[in-house]
Amino acid sequence: MNINWYPGHMVTAAKSIREDLKLIDIVVEVLDARIPKSSQNYIIDEMAEGKEKIVVLNKYDMADKIEVSKWKKYFEDKGISVVLTNAQSGDNISKLLDTIKIVGTKIYKKKYENKTIAIKPIFRVLIVGIPNVGKSTLINKISKKNSANVGNRPGVTVRKQWIRVGENVELLDTPGLLWPRLEDGNAGLKLALTGNIKQEILDLEELSAEGVKILIKNERYNLLFKEKYKLSDEDLIKEAHEIVEIIGRKKGCLISGGEVDLEKASKIFLDDFKNGRIGNISLDSIEK
Ligand code: G4P
Repeated sequence: MNINWYPGHMVTAAKSIREDLKLIDIVVEVLDARIPKSSQNYIIDEMAEGKEKIVVLNKYDMADKIEVSKWKKYFEDKGISVVLTNAQSGDNISKLLDTIKIVGTKIYKKKYENKTIAIKPIFRVLIVGIPNVGKSTLINKISKKNSANVGNRPGVTVRKQWIRVGENVELLDTPGLLWPRLEDGNAGLKLALTGNIKQEILDLEELSAEGVKILIKNERYNLLFKEKYKLSDEDLIKEAHEIVEIIGRKKGCLISGGEVDLEKASKIFLDDFKNGRIGNISLDSIEK
């Protein structure tokens, strides 16, 4: 989805989420596991105050497992349940559904204080997140694997489509769309490198140079980077834009006169980066 987030769009998105929140019990916030901080929009916590929240660290397959486990602990220490998923392959979708049921049961018990109630509880769930974190893929996977579409529920949820999952979970089939918080430090850069905002709106050569700098600074990522493009130790001490040029030359991105087409080289590098082809890389570390 290509939305330029002007203040008007943010107001419309917030209004839509507020409406949905009135209908639901549990918020599932989907974050990109590579950038759990930069892909967050804290406004959801203000809007959903008093509701239970589950954090999904999606695209786990492309993230640095060491960093992800630190982030998992970070959220769990705050009392928030965390599930690591790969929505594309469907990994851990069942775990997410189990977690929803556990959290739902907790809400139910609190509400009825263990009194016996004749009716079966239904836990209604909304998936939220910024663009491209995998919300739709997640909903599709849940709906294909585990559910029947329950359609409109007249009187309760007019014009809303719900997906029934198992006996007592209903998921709103349209995710809540949050906007990326570009004002946070390097968030814009990290969101662009992971493909959560369109790379085309930025200067690709500058973006790729910044990506290279990040890889070089980290000992583990440095090795992955070196291996991926068969770079030498001498290559790696060069300026970032020169390294992009070396990659371009290796990939045959040449223009007349034997010069490297820097834009094409940058695109190749950025595409590899955003799709996890350089290796499992995380950009938000918990310490910083
Ligand atoms: P959204 O609703 O939050 O906007 O995200 P969406 O589901 O459309 O997913 C965005 C892209 O991320 C999709 O790729 C999707 O296949 C991919 N994706 C979602 N979850 C995962 C995951 O867990 N792991 C990996 N590796 N990829 C995931 P796409 O359709 O190819 O879009 P694009 O890459 O061309 O932008």
